[in-house]
Order: sequence, then C-alpha cells, then structure tokens
Amino acid sequence: MNHEVVEKNLAVLAVAIAIVISIGGLVQIVPLMFSAKVTQPIEGVKPYPALALAGRDVYVREGCYTCHTQMIRPFRAETERYGHYSVAGESVYDRPFQWGSKRTGPDLARVGGRYSDDWHRVHLLNPRDVVPESNMPAFRWLETTPVDGDTVQRHMRALRRLGDPYTDADIEGAPAAVAGKTELDALIVYLQGLGRALPAGAAR
Ligand code: HEC
Repeated sequence: MNHEVVEKNLAVLAVAIAIVISIGGLVQIVPLMFSAKVTQPIEGVKPYPALALAGRDVYVREGCYTCHTQMIRPFRAETERYGHYSVAGESVYDRPFQWGSKRTGPDLARVGGRYSDDWHRVHLLNPRDVVPESNMPAFRWLETTPVDGDTVQRHMRALRRLGDPYTDADIEGAPAAVAGKTELDALIVYLQGLGRALPAGAAR
C-alpha cells in the first residue's frame, strides 16, 4: 500500500531515490575521510629530500609511469621477483602516487639499490648500452638540464601546505641542495631511494 503511494507520486519517488543514493554514497565516502589518519607512513618513510623530489618530478614529467609500475602485488610471482609487496604506508608522501597500471618494463617499487648509480646513468642515457634488447627510450637531455632550485622550493612549500612535515630548514636549504645538479643526478637519487624502507625479502 505505502509502496504504491511512492511509486505513483513522482516527487515522493524522486526524494526517496535521493535519500537512498545519499546513504549509499556516505557509506563509501565517509570512511575515506579518515584514511589519512589510518594510513601512517611506515618507519623510515620520510618526505622526499629536495634532490629526490626534483627527480620524482622528472619521473612524472617524462611519463616513466606509462611503462613502469611502482606497485608490487601480494602474489608469489611478484614477491619472488621484486621483493616485499607494496604497502600503503610507503606511498603517503607520493602526490600523485606512481602505482601505475602498465608494465612494459619491470616494476620499480624496490629498484633502489639494485644497480649502481653508474649503471643508471648509462641506462637512462641509452638503455641499449646495458640491455641490448631494451625498448626503453633514451633520455639524453636529462644530462644537460640543470635542476631549478626555485621550482623545487615552491613544490616543497606546496606539499607542506598539504601536510607533509617539511621543516623551514628543509625548504630554505632546497636551492643549495640541488645547486649544480642535473635532472639526471636528481632522477638517479630518486630511483635509488625507491622501496628502501621495507627491507627486500622481509616477511613474504
Ligand atoms: C616505452 C616504455 C618505457 C618508458 C617510457 C620507460 N621505460 Fe624504463 N624500462 C622499459 C623496459 C622495457 C625495461 C627493461 C629493459 C631495460 O632494462 O632497459 C626498462 C627498465 C628500466 C629500469 C631497470 C629496472 C630493472 O629492475 O631492471 C629502470 C630503473 C628504468 N627502466 C627506469 C625508467 C625511468 C626512470 C623512466 C623515465 C625517465 C623510464 N624507465 C621510462 C621501458 C620503459
């Protein structure tokens, strides 16, 4: 009987639909509002130092994420190859995160420390010099492009506004920290820091 009233009265039906959808929406949205509190950085994960942050910007700009993920899934095949699966507390200072979804190349979530700086230098300037069958593009211009200290500093200020715990000293010191460095130096520092907080091979 009541049901019939709702179905035959368009205004009542519209309001009822709106109420039902709102409840459904709130159930999904409200828990996310607290996720920043629930997802804490794991021990050893800190906001990116100036040079690594500049390197991360290069990574995003050059679209490395179009071929590389930074997300090791909790499957045997992945953990055997790449190390401990990725956990949320590792990505808290990644804005935007670089999990990605396309693996033309290998996952890079734990590439830090796997190769020497020199290997990365050669590889990024021409991947075929170290991996003959590689189809990764060469990024030669990074070697001659200096890092802009002012941009890094402003980026750090913006991140602090979003809640990243940079100190005044971190931000004041940013231009000095990147002075004389090229984008290639910065990118390598970023890559060498990836996934270092969780020791490779721990608790599989
Ligand atoms: C067109 C796809 C493509 C793009 C874009 C790309 N890569 Fe690669 N990358 C590959 C492939 C394929 C490999 C595996 C062969 C090799 O080592 O070169 C690879 C390998 C790597 C490796 C070695 C990983 C390992 O565990 O052996 C690193 C580090 C790397 N890429 C970094 C980068 C960075 C940094 C960028 C952006 C500046 C980038 N790649 C852009 C395809 C790509």
